Amino acid sequence: MVSESQMNEFTAWAKRRGVIFPSSEIYGGLGSSYDYGPVGVEMKNRLKTSWWRSMVHERQDVVGLDSAIILNPAVWQASGHLDNFSDLMVEDLKTHKRYRVEDLDDPTKSPEGNPVGEAKQFNVMFKTFVGPVEDDASTAYLRPETCQGIFIDFKQILETSRQRVPFGIAQIGKSFRNEITPGNLTFRTREFEQMEMEFFVREEEANKWFDYWVEARFQWYLDLGIRKENLRLFKHPKAKLAHYSKGTTDIEYKFPWGWGELEGIANRGNFDLVQHQKNSGKDLSVFDEETREKFVPWVIEPAGGVDRALLAILLDAWKFFQKGRKEDGEPETVLEVAPTLAAYDAAVLPLVKKPELLKMSQKLVASLRAAGKHVFYDESGSIGRRYRRMDEIGTPICYTVDFESLDDKKVTARDRDSMKQTRVTL
Ligand code: GAP
Repeated sequence: MVSESQMNEFTAWAKRRGVIFPSSEIYGGLGSSYDYGPVGVEMKNRLKTSWWRSMVHERQDVVGLDSAIILNPAVWQASGHLDNFSDLMVEDLKTHKRYRVEDLDDPTKSPEGNPVGEAKQFNVMFKTFVGPVEDDASTAYLRPETCQGIFIDFKQILETSRQRVPFGIAQIGKSFRNEITPGNLTFRTREFEQMEMEFFVREEEANKWFDYWVEARFQWYLDLGIRKENLRLFKHPKAKLAHYSKGTTDIEYKFPWGWGELEGIANRGNFDLVQHQKNSGKDLSVFDEETREKFVPWVIEPAGGVDRALLAILLDAWKFFQKGRKEDGEPETVLEVAPTLAAYDAAVLPLVKKPELLKMSQKLVASLRAAGKHVFYDESGSIGRRYRRMDEIGTPICYTVDFESLDDKKVTARDRDSMKQTRVTL
């Protein structure tokens, strides 16, 4: 686990090992914009697959969606984002840096101790233009949350998927917010990925489903291997609820800089569907054949961030041994991540660069790949260094092919965490 004093070490590791690094770096970067390298993108994809499996594939009552990022701007008028999706912002009168009032200990002073100007509302939606003319009529927005695509497609999906309330629609995708104070690596960025599911229920069943989803989502983070003592639930006080929410509980992680939100589970009532019904003029109610009732469903929403979840997983799994794990005294990093989230399932390492060993190793790589495994192959350098490189990116197992392997058709399987080596049949 990463402590606050190890954050620089962790950030350097993330860059060096192709996990996460600043974007556009050759041009000096772009404030809090990050890229995921070869290791990071694999882990991120596996995280999303895990979410999709638990939220969609393993259930009868949830279906998926991939909606557009740029929607008709009327969506954001109806959803309340054009009027309400803003942060109260102040400017340091000396440095002219801007801060969210919410982040300040004293709202009259900047963190540097300078006086601040009058607080102003700042809408955090990114504006753009659709088509060649840049005027008010062509103004559009990059979505600040993925869920509105779900609400506006709700009726269409209900009619074509053979689902009935209670049921859910899940979506993973990029969202954009012009955050005033991004920071803490990928914790708060302006471009990020969300995993959201809108679960449509009858009003009288909303509380039951809310409790169900809080528990199910908390368990998902535990199943990914995050330590229980680093996770907690935080119930939002009524006064701090978002404009659409009747109740929200966050799942928080103990980041090196303090507790921070990974996911919010909100009871959105029927706010969104009613708003879209009013603004679009389309009937978004459902008809219950049994009770012969027409109603606009309520919504329970588990809304998580891919980048934040991955950051928490990395921070939780990262271990630094100043004097190495053996007595050789060399500093060593091990990413003790769940094997299902590791960038590679296994590495294949010929002990030395001899043609017969390379040939046998390549055959092993091919058979592992045919079995659907993501394999790293590395044939040069000392075996100790090659093991350490794999430990650093969390590869759970390394298979070493040596001269004995040619005779007994066995390889050495070396475990990342225990470093135990066992001979296994090919
Ligand atoms: N539809 C509800 C919604 O968007 P939210 O709490 O604003 O709720 C959900 O966002 C999740 O998206 C958060 O819990 C967080 O994990 C992620 N998220 C939000 N803003 C983010 C940002 N600026 N950078 C990274 N992740 C962010």
